[in-house]
Amino acid sequence: MNTSDKLVKFHLNAAACWLVFGMLAGLSLAYRLISPSAAEFLETVSWLNFGRVRMFHTHVAIFGWLSNGFLAFSYYASPRMVGQTLFLPQLAWTNRWIMQLALIVGSASILAGHAEGVEYAEPPWFADLIFAVAFVFALVCILGTLLKDRLSNLYVSGWYLALGFVFTTLNFVMANTIVAHIAPGAAGAALEGLWIHNAVGLWVTPMGAAIVYYLLPLMVGKPIASHKLSLIGFWTLALLYPLGGSHHYFYSPVPWWLQVIAVPLTSALIFVVYTVVYNFFATMKGQWSLITSNIGLRFLTFGIFSYIMTCTQGPFHALFSVQRVVHFTDWIVAHAHLALFGVFSWWLYAFIYFVWPKLTGRTFSRKLSEWHFWLTVIGFFFLYYIPDTIAGLMQGFSWLRGLPFIDSLTVSQPFWIPRAISGVVLLVGFALLLINMYGPSTPEAKNE
Ligand code: HEM
Repeated sequence: MNTSDKLVKFHLNAAACWLVFGMLAGLSLAYRLISPSAAEFLETVSWLNFGRVRMFHTHVAIFGWLSNGFLAFSYYASPRMVGQTLFLPQLAWTNRWIMQLALIVGSASILAGHAEGVEYAEPPWFADLIFAVAFVFALVCILGTLLKDRLSNLYVSGWYLALGFVFTTLNFVMANTIVAHIAPGAAGAALEGLWIHNAVGLWVTPMGAAIVYYLLPLMVGKPIASHKLSLIGFWTLALLYPLGGSHHYFYSPVPWWLQVIAVPLTSALIFVVYTVVYNFFATMKGQWSLITSNIGLRFLTFGIFSYIMTCTQGPFHALFSVQRVVHFTDWIVAHAHLALFGVFSWWLYAFIYFVWPKLTGRTFSRKLSEWHFWLTVIGFFFLYYIPDTIAGLMQGFSWLRGLPFIDSLTVSQPFWIPRAISGVVLLVGFALLLINMYGPSTPEAKNE
């Protein structure tokens, strides 16, 4: 196995490990919200109180699980796309532990109570510094690999990788310097909106699009329907995405004009989304039967369905009339999970199903894979997304009617119980994938 494939394996191992912590944290948060007595669970242990575990959960899910997974994908795809070896493989090899060190220091600091007040950039400055070094090293290795070939030949996934790494380095530094330590009050909040928005739009989204454009042709055995359209989608994303960040601060003290222009800029993103969606459906034409046997392709496809939903929901709830109801409610929490779990985590699952057997020579058990898929999809939509969305609407209308705050909690309770159950179901589903990855090969798997 060459160094880049060893890196892929290492970062997928790390991603899986972080997802276990992330899901356990999510489950403990969900459990504490089901009743007043459950809320007291662990509250006396200061490093496990709700506020700290919530920050730990988002940090570990976004930077531990998703980002390690994206690094694994980048180390796999970038050398293959340009037909070259990885640039500075020794640097990437050393960097694998620098990245984990940053995550361990960052998440331990959050639990120890040393968090900074910037959402999704909570770790203190010394953890940020290690993370920034790790990210810049990864950027050098990936960009260096892509630049080994002429850019005019670069496949669309390569463009997305380059965009993701370059923008995110700048964005991360901006968040952890200007937002965390320099910009005061509402100005800082406006920039903070830019950071969280772009962490999703210019890190998670391009990495996800790169995965889809890379895996889909390989899984269905034909090129994507329109390379030109994919590039139009890429450039419109690069141009439009950074401008709509203040939609995270509707009805807040950030300047009104900034909030108003965020509405059309957010709505325009629907075009970007549909370039990916059109290409997906046009490439899948005549190949739909493959999703019955290929679980990776099925995760990719269901991720696209969630992508359509979440990206249609986004411009819709960017309208002020809708914001009046849903702002600060669980509607947004459901939306965040639809994107980060229902889309991008499922696309990473697709990558694991595609790459792990190739790297390890293992054959996944069909039965375990089917169970993983259905527990994940049903557990998420029916126990998490739908109940939490309804809870969000109940909360919003209850606040608009001026009812006491406690009423909004009482009406949410029946919807928060299934959400806590979903935590168990999703964890069990993921455990089945882990058994496929690391457990003993079953006779059934050997025969397939
Ligand atoms: C076992 C599965 C999971 C459960 C039960 C769960 C549960 C939760 C809960 C209860 C919250 C706090 C909601 C609140 O403060 O009212 C939360 C927040 C969040 N979770 Fe999860 N989660 C899970 C998995 C994930 C995964 C896999 C990701 C990302 C890949 C993720 C990303 C987030 C984000 C971004 C937030 C913040 C949402 C916001 O502020 O709007 N979660 N989660």
